[in-house]
Amino acid sequence: MRRIPLSQIQPHMHLARDIYHLNSLLLREGTSNLDRYTASLANLGITSIYIVDNISEDIEIPDAITEQTRVKCKDALQDTLFHFRTEGSFDTTCLSRAIDSLIEDLFARKDVLISLTDIATTDDNTLVHSVSTTVLSLLMGQRLNLSEVEMRVLAEGALLHDIGKTLLDPAILFKTEPLTSEEFAHIQMHPLLGYRALQRNPLITELSRLLALQHHERLDGSGYPQHLPGEDTHLFAKIVAIADVYDALTSERCYHKSMTNHQAYEILMSDSGTKLDAQLLHVFFNNIAIYPNGSLVRLSNGTRGIVKSQNKEAPFRPLIRIIDDINGETVKLYDLDLMKDLTTQIIS
Ligand SMILES: [Fe+2]
Ligand SMILES: [Fe+2]
Repeated sequence: MRRIPLSQIQPHMHLARDIYHLNSLLLREGTSNLDRYTASLANLGITSIYIVDNISEDIEIPDAITEQTRVKCKDALQDTLFHFRTEGSFDTTCLSRAIDSLIEDLFARKDVLISLTDIATTDDNTLVHSVSTTVLSLLMGQRLNLSEVEMRVLAEGALLHDIGKTLLDPAILFKTEPLTSEEFAHIQMHPLLGYRALQRNPLITELSRLLALQHHERLDGSGYPQHLPGEDTHLFAKIVAIADVYDALTSERCYHKSMTNHQAYEILMSDSGTKLDAQLLHVFFNNIAIYPNGSLVRLSNGTRGIVKSQNKEAPFRPLIRIIDDINGETVKLYDLDLMKDLTTQIIS
């Protein structure tokens, strides 16, 4: 399977993963004649999909959690946010069950470099972002050998980290033009609003609330709302901060196109040790595929290919399925392991 933009859909391709919209199934895996759906998908804010064709048949894209767990988490979160908006309070039973599934999936997964494979539509952006941030945070937590109790607290806080956004003015939150300084100040209120909202629920742990409050703090004190320096920010908030920025950069939002994992890697690393914790970044990028399986890459020898599989010890040197030569002519497919051919590199 591989991920392609809607504009590259061809008649011979089949859908490789179910597509959901607001937790209901939109298109089932295996669907053919995908060009019939291009316009409707684009209307929902979907810009790329997973497909299988003859060059990507045997390529798998490992995800950290199953599709069922993802849907369960989004469902639970949607329910929680709905009750919170309408009644000002919520029950944590549903959320707690979703956390069980998340943790179970993570511990069952094989030790591979993953890439998150969820595709967000315009309407469920926040849900997808919260679930992805949680998965990425838990992956770090797992590497740091957190206890199960700690993992649950981290999951709870990460799922609810942006709950304060539900109290913001949607006209400002979803504004596509640049924000004025007043509007920016309004957005910056969401950590405190979230913290206060979570204080009203006695079943939420204080540490989970702190994650909502501190996830925009930065080591050098340049974050908000309290401008806390690194030594005063909780470890879990530093974890969520990395997951949050990475997901924001790599997923499509109404106001920007997504970046590649590699571009996001460069941006996060440029803040390493100054704004974001260097050791945690190291742990983070040991779990993430910089060039995810199924992505199209150009090599320094002039050929193009699709990433077939990962070399766990060298995230920058995966195995590539070469699909065309220097002149762009189709070739008989062959695989090139960049760990064996050290003279060739991925250039874009
Ligand atoms: Fe936030
Ligand atoms: Fe966030």
